[in-house]
Amino acid sequence: MRKKIEITDFEKAIGENLSELVKEKIDECEFVYDEISKEERDSLTLLIIDFLLEDIFVKKAGPHRINDWVKGWGENCTEFSDSGDFNSLVPKYFGKHPYVRWEGQWIKPSNKDFEYNMVRILQYWLFEKFFSSCENIYEFGCGTGHNLFRAHEVNSSATITGLDWASSSQETLQEINRVYGFDFSGHNFDFYNVDNDFVLGENSGVYTFAALEQIGSRYNDFVEYLVKNNPGVCIHVEPMAECLDKEELCDYLSIKYFEKRKYLNGFANHLASLADDGKIEILYEKRSFIGSVFINGYSIIAWRTKNA
Ligand SMILES: C[S@@+](CC[C@H](N)C(=O)[O-])C[C@H]1O[C@@H](n2cnc3c(N)ncnc32)[C@H](O)[C@@H]1O
Repeated sequence: MRKKIEITDFEKAIGENLSELVKEKIDECEFVYDEISKEERDSLTLLIIDFLLEDIFVKKAGPHRINDWVKGWGENCTEFSDSGDFNSLVPKYFGKHPYVRWEGQWIKPSNKDFEYNMVRILQYWLFEKFFSSCENIYEFGCGTGHNLFRAHEVNSSATITGLDWASSSQETLQEINRVYGFDFSGHNFDFYNVDNDFVLGENSGVYTFAALEQIGSRYNDFVEYLVKNNPGVCIHVEPMAECLDKEELCDYLSIKYFEKRKYLNGFANHLASLADDGKIEILYEKRSFIGSVFINGYSIIAWRTKNA
C-alpha cells in the first residue's frame, strides 16, 4: 500500500512538536513510500543473512581504510570543483538501494533521495535543538562537509569547522568556500591519534554523524579529549546497539551487521558510565526513526560535561 509520511508522523516518531523550519523542510520533500510484501521482507532478510555469512569481501572498518576515504572524498571533490553542484558533495552510498527503514521496518521509497532527505530532517531538528546558540560548531569525521551546510543554515553566526583524517576532506571544504563564499575551516584530525593541541573554542557544539562508526571500540581517547575541552554540547548520530531492540528482527540484523563491519561498539555504555561517575550529563538518548537497508544506524546521544 502507498503511504506518505506527514509532519504529524515525524512529530509522533520524534516525540516532540517540530519547529516551523523543520516543518518547512519536510514539506519540500516527497516522503512517499510503499509498504513491502512478505516476499520482499524475506528477500531483504536473506540479503543481510548472506552478507553476515560472507567473509572474504566484507570491508571491515579500521585504520587500514584511510586510503579508501581519501580516494572516495577526492572523487567527490573533483566532481564538485568541476560542477559547483551541491549534489556532488552527497556521499554516493545514499540512494543506492531501493529499500530503507522507517520506524525500524523496511519500506520502499518512491524516490532515491528519500534516505538523504530523512537525514536532512533529522539534522535540522537536532541542530536547531542543540546548536542554536553555539558560537562554534565542529563536525568530527565530516567527509565532504555536506552536513555543515545544515549547521550553517540553522546558526549562520557560528564559526563552522569540519575535521576528518582524509586530506581530501579539507580540500573539499576549501572548494566549498570558493564556490559558496563560506568560511568553513578544515582540519586534519584522526580519532586514532587524537590531536590534543587542537583546542575547541568557547561555547562549542560538537557532532559526529556516522563517523565514530568507523573506529570500533577505539573511542576512549576522543571522548577524553572532548571532556577535557568542555564543549557546550556534543551530539553523536551513530550505530549504537545499546539503543536497539535485539528481540526484534530488523534491529537484530542491524546489530549483527555492526559487529560484522567492526562498527562502533560499546560507545553508549561508555558514555553512560561517565554519566554514572558524575563526569558528564546525558541530555538525550534515543534511536532515530530512520535507517538504511542494512542498518538502523542513526541512533542519537547528546551530552555535555557537568561544568559546561
Ligand atoms: C560514513 S563517513 C561519514 C562522513 C560524514 N560524517 C557524513 O555524514 O557524510 C565516515 C567518515 O569518518 C571518517 N573517518 C573514519 N575513520 C576516521 C578516523 N580515524 N579519524 C577521523 N575521521 C575518520 C571518514 O574519513 C569519513 O569521512
